[in-house]
Amino acid sequence: MTTYITTPIYYVNAQPHLGHAYTTIVADTYSRFKRLCGDTVRFQTGTDEHGDKIVKAAENADIPPREYVDRISAQFRETWPLLQVEADHFIRTTDAAHIAVVRAILQKVYDRGDIYFDEYSGLYCRGCERYLMEKELVDGNCPDHQTPPQEIAEQNYFFRMSRYQQPLLEHIRNNPEFITPERYRNEVLAFLSEPLTDLCISRPKSRLTWGIELPFDDKFVTYVWFDALINYLTGIGYPDGPDFEKFWSVAEHLIAKDILKPHAIYWPTMLMAMGVPLYKKLHVHGYWNVDDTKMSKSIGNVVRPKELVETYGVDTLRYFTLREMSFGLDSSFSSDAIVVRHNADLANDLGNLFSRAITMVWKYREGRIPAPSFPSEDDQSLRDAAQAMLRDYRQAMADFRFHLGLQAVWEFVGLANKYIVGNAPWALAKDVEKSARLDTVLYNLLECLRLLTLTLQPVMPGAAVRMAAGLGLVAADPLVASLEKGGVWGLLVPGGQLMAITTLFPRLEGKTTGEPVAKTERDQPQPKKQDAPVMTEVDLVDFQFFQKLDLRVAEIIAVEPIKNSKKLLKVTVLAPEERTIVAGIAEHYQPEELIGSQVVIVANLKPAKLMGVNSHGMVLAAKTLIDGKEKLVLSKVRETVAPGSKVA
Ligand code: ME8
Ligand code: MG
Repeated sequence: MTTYITTPIYYVNAQPHLGHAYTTIVADTYSRFKRLCGDTVRFQTGTDEHGDKIVKAAENADIPPREYVDRISAQFRETWPLLQVEADHFIRTTDAAHIAVVRAILQKVYDRGDIYFDEYSGLYCRGCERYLMEKELVDGNCPDHQTPPQEIAEQNYFFRMSRYQQPLLEHIRNNPEFITPERYRNEVLAFLSEPLTDLCISRPKSRLTWGIELPFDDKFVTYVWFDALINYLTGIGYPDGPDFEKFWSVAEHLIAKDILKPHAIYWPTMLMAMGVPLYKKLHVHGYWNVDDTKMSKSIGNVVRPKELVETYGVDTLRYFTLREMSFGLDSSFSSDAIVVRHNADLANDLGNLFSRAITMVWKYREGRIPAPSFPSEDDQSLRDAAQAMLRDYRQAMADFRFHLGLQAVWEFVGLANKYIVGNAPWALAKDVEKSARLDTVLYNLLECLRLLTLTLQPVMPGAAVRMAAGLGLVAADPLVASLEKGGVWGLLVPGGQLMAITTLFPRLEGKTTGEPVAKTERDQPQPKKQDAPVMTEVDLVDFQFFQKLDLRVAEIIAVEPIKNSKKLLKVTVLAPEERTIVAGIAEHYQPEELIGSQVVIVANLKPAKLMGVNSHGMVLAAKTLIDGKEKLVLSKVRETVAPGSKVA
């Protein structure tokens, strides 16, 4: 199967905000979900860079439009990786290929007789970039921009949209899935019950030059919507590229309700005039409000995605937006709401399930996946619940009901937590005769975690990597990356070695006041203040002395510089439990390059406090000379092993 999903191409008259982030996260989640289902997926986003309001914004910024659009488009492009959004193509309407396609299409529609020249006078709203009808005005103002439209009379080119009203109406009536949710389909049908007027698709150069010149009259540029909508074709190589063949028939557009009319009316009628089949589906969502007021560039109450990621983390932002908004309806953003969801759903429900299950497998089975035996009734109902969860999740995600998909997943998280309490593995562990039962219970819990990793991968790809690692799997393993290959119970292989125990979601503080702060370290007992260990002369030692050293492989999961210290880094490792070590390697390594690497540590060194930071152990490194300068080179093991493995 093939999937082609698009977001709107965003105007570059302002920087990305939560609304843009939401649409783009939804498109990314959907494309990851479709990949999980085995589809070949194409996901496209981009920027809309022509027209009146872009010129205005460039004037305000006091730079030429070209420079301005480059700058803001780059901000959009650079925002998406922060949200772990991975689009296959980022299109700009200033791309030469796009401009050429728009001109070719205009010429084609013109040659077919669907574009004509006429005089027109009307009420024009700059914010909407379109003529408004008298009856649309509220107290003489544009309802969206609260400004009076300008009376404009000029000669322009028009697209014979009215000619396609009936065919469009029939298409929508015959294809209930064409526009969803249904409320938006109804809205469009209601609109089409009145006669459709033709669409003005040009702007005289005397008024606007920042646009695509009409191929048949160089005194005009193209209306920004006629230009912008065509991006969905250009991006896949219309008219004769192989990707066009492959993806167009399955095109799904994702938008908010603000741009329903251009997508549900202009675009399909344009396609009809071009002789191109219509897109497959239009998915329409509601608005994010901020503390109950509509967020918009003009009101100025915008929330920036970059700041949200810095404050709450990308997984939490993605989860929150998908879980909180019922697709199609409006939703409200507040910092309280996101902190509450994080702490309740992620830190408590999911995070605790994960750490309890993994910790017990380490504690009772040295981190090895035990073999299950014949299922009890309780086990069987857990399995049934898992299958039901997978089914509901799959249906909901395919239907753009993400909040329902996540609800199904969290009901299952609740069941798995109950399964722990009901089976009390800690009690089973005390009784040797119950060893087989303990194996089964632990195995079932790990299977729950695996299926959760699988279902959450599209929503929180970052957390899924950490969860998979906890199970000793890489994120690309079909067991956690394919619904076809991994979406049944009982696939974890007994004997497999688990990896790290990490805190999946540290709690966020500051529910109502102040800035929420992510706690990155476990609360640890404060050791007494001690001096840093000092190396003295090397003597020969006997074996017993060596045996006292607890040398272990540790996996570095976080590194931070230490304030006022040029030499020291605070290194957080798993060995296998989480601990912090202060290491004198700041002049030799950048923090980022260390994350994920395995080093050898002295695990039983007496705790010390260095520059105010607790250090529980010592990282081993070799001293060498490089270019005449002393350099420390960290120890490592030849192959990756389970963190905490003993070094002897
Ligand atoms: O309309 N809540 O660009 P645009 C939810 N260039 N989503 C929101 C939102 C909010 N408060 N605010 C914006 C344009 N969005 C045209 C599109 S497509 C061929 C051309 C999201 O920058 C939502 O996806 O005004 C909405 O449809 C889009 O941003 C509008 O972006
Ligand atoms: Mg807009």
